[in-house]
Amino acid sequence: MYINFWYPAIASKDLSADQPARVQILGQRFVLFRDANGQARCLSDTCVHRGGALGKGRIRDGNVACPYHGWQFDGSGQCVQIPSMGANAKVPARAKVDAYPVAEKYGIIFAFLGDLPEAERPPLMECPEYGTEGWRANLIIFDVACSYERSIENGMDPAHNEFVHPSHGFHGKREDFAVPDIELEQQDWGCGFMQTFRSHERVARESPTRGKMRTDKDGNFQGEVRAGTWHYGPAAMLTKIHMATHNWMHQYMYECPIDDRNIRVFLVNMRNCVLESAADKQVEDRCRVIAGQDIEIVEALQPTKTPPAAIREVIVAADSVIVGYRRWLQKWTELGWRIDTRKVRRAQQEGDAVFAIPSPARRTEKNWALEAVPLVGNDSATG
Ligand code: FES
Ligand SMILES: [Fe+2]
Repeated sequence: MYINFWYPAIASKDLSADQPARVQILGQRFVLFRDANGQARCLSDTCVHRGGALGKGRIRDGNVACPYHGWQFDGSGQCVQIPSMGANAKVPARAKVDAYPVAEKYGIIFAFLGDLPEAERPPLMECPEYGTEGWRANLIIFDVACSYERSIENGMDPAHNEFVHPSHGFHGKREDFAVPDIELEQQDWGCGFMQTFRSHERVARESPTRGKMRTDKDGNFQGEVRAGTWHYGPAAMLTKIHMATHNWMHQYMYECPIDDRNIRVFLVNMRNCVLESAADKQVEDRCRVIAGQDIEIVEALQPTKTPPAAIREVIVAADSVIVGYRRWLQKWTELGWRIDTRKVRRAQQEGDAVFAIPSPARRTEKNWALEAVPLVGNDSATG
């Protein structure tokens, strides 16, 4: 798992004004709350007094108050009140927790988990169609017991549709089946491809796009689909499906690595057809059916995480997208952004260590009570 990217933390509708929420991302805990202006805030969950869980606390005057002894932290992570010291007492400088930049967009609250200054941060994957005329959004959230790497690899895999999704492929029965040559496109924070393939998508009955596409007498889609996928950073991905000239679906998948073996997927599903709100439920159901077919596969993969080198796998041409994604992961590892999950797990199992994802303030301020999470190849990570 990597620091220095934006991650989805919670759906906007699930963060109320009067109750903090506690979430886990990258194997660490965070508290989210709304300040006095209603602005979402994200802090490290561990109270630097005696380790209380801030996410189990309450909101007091726009601050989050620890449930243990009531210390109050503002949206910048600064402790502003220590009740046991009496009113107006001076709060020690070390009484602060990491605070992370937050963006609330597309019905999701995202946090930038890392210490890069603003100008150097990889931007959040944008969804330009959101809120524009002629497009309709569905936010669909689901959990999967697999690593984000396995999930992204699956989402980008051009060879699995034929076998995993009965409505997209031919169960491997097509004699002329082969994955066309892939032209991998490199972008600023990832790679991807667009391709044309045959589909017999059954648009009969359950599909909201029924009646809008060329079908045979049995209701099977006739023709070619243009589709493509790009990953953006380690755990976000865009899939475009163009069923006909004006029948498009763009799926923005923001994955939250809860830890290195579990994800929560925030899927912003955009469509430019069947725009009626009444179709939302059908679209969601359909997305969940397709996702369920993928989940069945990815939850059973071994090893549960992507192997460190290809030596335990046999890679063929159709896997070039997977290789492209892994090269990007390698780049971010070389930049020193990969969390040393082994070290973290060992320390957490012993129960004598707690870490924080380093926040941007660590670049300019000293005096942090919690140790920054250990990073691969960076043994001198500062506390
Ligand atoms: S542990 Fe948070 S106030 Fe004491
Ligand atoms: Fe799939």
